[in-house]
Amino acid sequence: MAQKRIVSGIRPTGKMHLGHLHGALLNWKRLQEGYKCFFFIADWHALTSEYAHPGIIRESTYDMLLDWLSIGLDPEKCTFFIQSRIKEHAELNLIFSMITPLAWLERNPTYKEQLRELSQKNVQTYGFLGYPVLQAADILMYKASGVPVGEDQAPHVELTREIARRFNHLYGEVFTVPDTLLTPTSRLLGIDRRKMSKSYNNAIFLTDTDEEIDERVGRMITDPQRARRNDPGDPDVCNVFSIHQIYSDPEIVKNINMECRSSDIGCVECKKKMADSLKKGLEPIRARRKELELDMKKVRDIIEDGNSRAMAIARETMKEVKEAVKI
Ligand code: TRP
Ligand code: SF4
Repeated sequence: MAQKRIVSGIRPTGKMHLGHLHGALLNWKRLQEGYKCFFFIADWHALTSEYAHPGIIRESTYDMLLDWLSIGLDPEKCTFFIQSRIKEHAELNLIFSMITPLAWLERNPTYKEQLRELSQKNVQTYGFLGYPVLQAADILMYKASGVPVGEDQAPHVELTREIARRFNHLYGEVFTVPDTLLTPTSRLLGIDRRKMSKSYNNAIFLTDTDEEIDERVGRMITDPQRARRNDPGDPDVCNVFSIHQIYSDPEIVKNINMECRSSDIGCVECKKKMADSLKKGLEPIRARRKELELDMKKVRDIIEDGNSRAMAIARETMKEVKEAVKI
């Protein structure tokens, strides 16, 4: 039986950090074993918020691809592509925009939240309101059966499903209605305990050097109740401990769990141990990345190959769409 397809994308607004790794990329890596995966760099989507300073977009496109490859996403199993290279996405976005009621976009909770959160950027634009319509085009173009996304993106996939149904109802069955494959939310927070994000300046990046890791881990906020060295701590609310749980040996984790509660270990020492485990854990990723950086031709070939595979499918879909819409 033909493998089912999944589609997902990330906006190129910087390098990948631990939040991406444990929130999305490692999930993609598991999925590549069972699905035909289409993973793309959503540069048009990045432009909706970065249009005033778009330099970061091109800068991070290859950075992101290198990060994806170095964590073990495999070009034999996945098709990687750049959204803006497949013009058909824009064409399908246009057609979907004709059949998408404004009310669907205006009531979208992610949209409302971002209008509030991104108040320092002017996102009161036509393009930003239409963000989920373009996303529907990304997904439906490849007739994906599933879309792996985090909780915040679930409303967008819901909208995609509604657009697919509406199109099929109006013009005949062209599109598959995809399922949301909800990625379990990662427990990792940024060094200030907020959600890890480049824009909060609280991230640990996959490409950080040992020195950068030491420095960032050193600045991490631990259990906020543990003010003094002799206060007992609670590892369950400590982000340093969350990283220990992923990167340290079970034996170390077990000990810290006890010694923190009995104040037998201080946060400085605990952080040192964590930073060591983290560096060790990230080492294979960094090594792989160094190798890839020495062979950028190969990396460019991977993306060009992906672009052409994506394009071939996009052309087929657009043929069907035009037939259906009779245009
Ligand atoms: N909106 C997604 C995000 O901000 C990125 C994205 C664009 C996407 N197109 C997509 C995700 C299609 C999944 C499928 O994270
Ligand atoms: Fe967190 Fe470790 Fe400090 Fe406990 S000892 S509060 S787990 S950093």
